[in-house]
Amino acid sequence: MKILETKRLLLRHLEMSDLDDLFALYSDPAVTQFIPDAPTTLAETREELEWFQNGHPEHPELGLWATIHKANEQFIGRCGLLPWTIDGCFEVEVAYALKKAFWGQGLATEAAKAILNYGFNQLHYTRLVSLIDSDNHASIRVAEKIGMQFEKEEKDEIGPFWLYTCLHSFWVGLSTPKTNFGQT
Ligand SMILES: CC(C)(COP(=O)(O)OP(=O)(O)OC[C@H]1O[C@@H](n2cnc3c(N)ncnc32)[C@H](O)[C@@H]1OP(=O)(O)O)[C@@H](O)C(=O)NCCC(=O)NCCS
Repeated sequence: MKILETKRLLLRHLEMSDLDDLFALYSDPAVTQFIPDAPTTLAETREELEWFQNGHPEHPELGLWATIHKANEQFIGRCGLLPWTIDGCFEVEVAYALKKAFWGQGLATEAAKAILNYGFNQLHYTRLVSLIDSDNHASIRVAEKIGMQFEKEEKDEIGPFWLYTCLHSFWVGLSTPKTNFGQT
């Protein structure tokens, strides 16, 4: 099922035919360096794919979605929205990971911006977050480019991370063109 579309990308539910591509993504240590809970085997990848096939089982509107380059219909990664409980609060994360061959073309920013927009405007969340390793400079840059701001350092059972957040009210301000009323 299609979730959203951008100029260059189509995001849809994962399908079993994505398994080899998803496993290839997770088999690249450069991709998983900062994703400590990434699947490490084909079996674990299948488990993750099955978990997200119809959206997150407990929150079907969320999930990791196949990210397809429209130019050639190629699977280039998985991006989406993930539910977490952080400090006892329900949070929704904008998540993104692309095959290395597609880095550096603005594609993650394009996907993440559209996901943020979808989370705010279609799903009506008032706050979205990103959980990022402090050494993951590319991911921090993507988060900043879509309007996320560093909030605090956090820690869960997997380890420490930086919490980036964006409020809908702040984001509306960012995306509304400024007017010059009152200026002479
Ligand atoms: C993070 C990731 C999705 C970025 O994908 P991408 O398509 O290359 O990102 P974009 O091209 O949209 O933008 C990357 C930005 O980060 C910058 N960047 C890239 N590497 C960087 C680095 N090592 N240090 C600082 N900035 C860096 C780029 O210059 C660009 O910023 P700019 O447009 O201002 O120049 C990609 O590196 C990836 O899939 N990494 C592995 C998975 C991962 O770590 N996901 C995030 C988990 S929190």
